[in-house]
Amino acid sequence: MKKLVYIHTFGCQMNVHDSEKMLGILEGKGYQETDQPSKADLIIFNTCSIRQKAEQKFYSELGRIKSYKKRHKNLKIIVAGCIAQQEGKNIFKKAPHVDFIIGPQNIHNLEKIQDEKQVLIEENADIAINDLPVKRNNNVSAWVTIMYGCNNYCSYCVVPYTRGRERSRPSENIYKEITELAAKGYKEITLLGQNVNSYYSDINFTQLLRKINKIEGIVRIRFVTSHPKDLSEDLIYAIQELDKVCEHIHLPLQSGSDEILVRMNRRYSLKDYMKRVNMLRKKIPDISITSDIIAGFPGENESDHRATLKALKEIEFDGIFAFKFSPRPGTKAEKMDNQIDENIKSERLSEILSLQDKITEKKNKSLEGTIQEILIEGYDELNVNRLSGRTRTNKIVTIDAYNFKQGDIINVFISKGRKHSLEGNPLI
Ligand code: 5AD
Ligand code: SF4
Repeated sequence: MKKLVYIHTFGCQMNVHDSEKMLGILEGKGYQETDQPSKADLIIFNTCSIRQKAEQKFYSELGRIKSYKKRHKNLKIIVAGCIAQQEGKNIFKKAPHVDFIIGPQNIHNLEKIQDEKQVLIEENADIAINDLPVKRNNNVSAWVTIMYGCNNYCSYCVVPYTRGRERSRPSENIYKEITELAAKGYKEITLLGQNVNSYYSDINFTQLLRKINKIEGIVRIRFVTSHPKDLSEDLIYAIQELDKVCEHIHLPLQSGSDEILVRMNRRYSLKDYMKRVNMLRKKIPDISITSDIIAGFPGENESDHRATLKALKEIEFDGIFAFKFSPRPGTKAEKMDNQIDENIKSERLSEILSLQDKITEKKNKSLEGTIQEILIEGYDELNVNRLSGRTRTNKIVTIDAYNFKQGDIINVFISKGRKHSLEGNPLI
């Protein structure tokens, strides 16, 4: 009988995709995925340390499954991901029921895990050339890593410490992986990297897009995440010109105050950012732009916060992810003076979110009466009689199920724009 593995993934798309790689490796070792941790022979927590909340959630889950070991003597528990990298063997002290600790740069070493406790967190310069098997959960849309790590050292962020230096995968390996995905019927790919604009191997990022755009069978190309300081005109032209590259960019602003941007070590001003937004909108009029905002960064005063609200009003993002600043161990911002009171952070965050909600709703409403191409991803989570898909601009559209199926690309008439999604009627 096959051994069963249960995996709980916290955090970003990079982690979701790392979990797919771990499952790919384990499948080769005879494991099968289960959604019931109590039945598993192996439990993996793929952890996130970007904010304290994600970390707390993991530790409480880890505590909860301790008793499983009493019932299942051979159960092994792996802690993977960014907390594994940061904490290393300290995790054994906090949780002696853990068997293996394996950082994001070492997932290929899952192969080598023995019976005794192990910690695998050393820097791995070869990560970009190790092509790993992947067990994907989706048959239409696939993540493809193009680069690992980050060199930016934004002062609040743990990623450069947990995922190491930037390393780009050779373009041939990426091309081969996507060609194979196309042959299996995948329609959409999302290129993944902490800062895709600084992809550089034998070719640069726009050259990579041009190369991938030629792959037959792939209909949509997306990429995350872009850093505003590295968003080149060349890339804007490529989005405009290349038919498969979707009209959406995730471009984290973080703050609308120049002083705060300096303290965050973002290396652009609001003016620089606006220049890029204006150029994007000039060249690609229907592009959707989404962003990340941090509320209550150390030293953020009321006028810095107002500057962020003003920027949100001016830019009118299609959507944002906003977070309260969370001091992370080892980062510069953790040690900065003038940490902001939690209550003030919460107030500022809710002001940011409620302003953006109105903007998002207004933007979605403005699409009523338009025709949009959607790629159907599956059933609507809230209503099994409806299907859900995305526009090229990455907005969710639900439609009555009719005879369509996952992977179909159809044109729909947008009948309703809501806060978080659109409703549409297929044009048949
Ligand atoms: N506190 C709050 N938000 C953070 N992010 C990264 N680090 C922190 C932190 N310490 C946010 C940034 C980033 C997104 C992925 O997470 O907005 O763009
Ligand atoms: Fe973190 Fe900044 Fe790198 Fe993004 S660009 S991963 S926020 S250090």
